[in-house]
Amino acid sequence: MRHFGWQSLVATSLGLFIAGLQAQTLDSVLAGETDVSTFYSLIQKYPDILNGLPSGGATVLAPNNAAFVRNAQFVKNSPDFITSVLQYHVLQDTVLAKNLVAGAPIFTDTLLASWTNITGGIRVEMLVQGGDVVALIGGQGSRSTLITADLPFTGGVVQIIDSLLVPPGNITTTCQEYNFTSFEGALYAADLLTSDSSTSNLTIFAPQNAAFQAIGSAITSMSSSDLAKIMNFHTIPNQVLYSPSLKNNSVLTTLEGGKLTITRADNNAVYINSAQILAPDIMIGNGVLHVIDNVLNPSSSGVPTETLATQLPVFASASSVSGLPFTSNIPAATTSVQSVATGNAQPTGVKSSSSKALAAKVARETGFKAGVMAVIGGAAMLL
Ligand SMILES: *[C@@H]1O[C@H](CO)[C@@H](O)[C@H](O)[C@H]1NC(C)=O
Ligand SMILES: *[C@@H]1O[C@H](CO)[C@@H](O)[C@H](O)[C@H]1NC(C)=O
Ligand SMILES: *[C@@H]1O[C@H](CO)[C@@H](O)[C@H](O)[C@H]1NC(C)=O
Ligand SMILES: *[C@@H]1O[C@H](CO)[C@@H](O)[C@H](O)[C@H]1NC(C)=O
Ligand SMILES: *[C@@H]1O[C@H](CO)[C@@H](O)[C@H](O)[C@H]1NC(C)=O
Repeated sequence: MRHFGWQSLVATSLGLFIAGLQAQTLDSVLAGETDVSTFYSLIQKYPDILNGLPSGGATVLAPNNAAFVRNAQFVKNSPDFITSVLQYHVLQDTVLAKNLVAGAPIFTDTLLASWTNITGGIRVEMLVQGGDVVALIGGQGSRSTLITADLPFTGGVVQIIDSLLVPPGNITTTCQEYNFTSFEGALYAADLLTSDSSTSNLTIFAPQNAAFQAIGSAITSMSSSDLAKIMNFHTIPNQVLYSPSLKNNSVLTTLEGGKLTITRADNNAVYINSAQILAPDIMIGNGVLHVIDNVLNPSSSGVPTETLATQLPVFASASSVSGLPFTSNIPAATTSVQSVATGNAQPTGVKSSSSKALAAKVARETGFKAGVMAVIGGAAMLL
């Protein structure tokens, strides 16, 4: 991969420009858009942001000035931190908003490579909402709306967006932010938290809290090793499967060894065995997490009943409990780190404009059935 500094990039682009190509350089595009002057000044101050800009085409997601005004603390972070977060705003492909199709979100690698343990890139999701609005979704509940689309420069395209995007967090912070506390506690109880948060390239199906409550009597009485088998049945190793990759009738091999079948109903609902996906595509540092409505059981494959709004639990003779199973297994120190945006010990000042009800919106926009979305509540507010 070629590495450009800002100056060499400008020089290269300028060279092309002088040679007679009519496209503008990235420099002149950004300089000409007064609405992104803060972003432009940060790129000039921290030229490493554009290090590794792919010669084959890039998309620069330029947050507008209002995004930085809302996040006044952001520029007070360390140069490394600022550089990393803004590298998350540079996509390794030319993505044109006019080519996006409703119901077909795309996930593109960014220039940020070393933030967490995702392998093969840390991605940003772009998708078309109703009314041709384009949403951009990052990690930790961050989302943004495209406000000025498809400004060409010699090496790609600039998209002006209205909020900062935040790189994905790890499993612990993500579970805390989205309130997947029984799932998180069960990982602790099964002694899997460390391996699940440090293994690269995982796809995880995380049951909502109510799913653990519904089978509380059965799941809380298991030995730690039996619980580990159940939890491993929710993890697909060595594959990061965003929702478009969950193909109808495909079969996935879990970490437990058993297999899961994907069913896509004609009404867009997607099922893993008989459990329905409630919220797809929550990016984590080492992969992706999809929220499901029931705990999966290796001993009971289960087939969805598509006419039911909510699928039935697949643990025979389990009864529900009123408390939240496994939440007492979460170390007290963990709960206090929630909503800190990014692996930096200091407060980051990164605030997402509209992360409340994220999951419901994502579900709607990606064509997933809304299901029981309210249970995962307000997503992260990154203060
Ligand atoms: C993760 O997946 C990427 C993309 O397929 C691959 O290049 C990388 O080697 C994988 N990493 C590990 C540790 O398996
Ligand atoms: C990345 O994974 C390694 C083990 O593969 C682990 O030691 C390290 O702490 C992880 N880093 C982060 C930021 O999670
Ligand atoms: C998925 O496959 C099933 C069985 O082959 C089929 O009935 C169903 O229509 C397919 N769903 C979609 C969305 O194509
Ligand atoms: C997840 O990230 C938080 C915040 O950076 C950190 O305190 C915690 O130790 C990490 N958890 C794991 C399991 O790596
Ligand atoms: C987390 O989930 C529990 C049970 O599902 C609920 O009682 C609680 O209000 C939720 N918390 C938030 C912040 O949504």
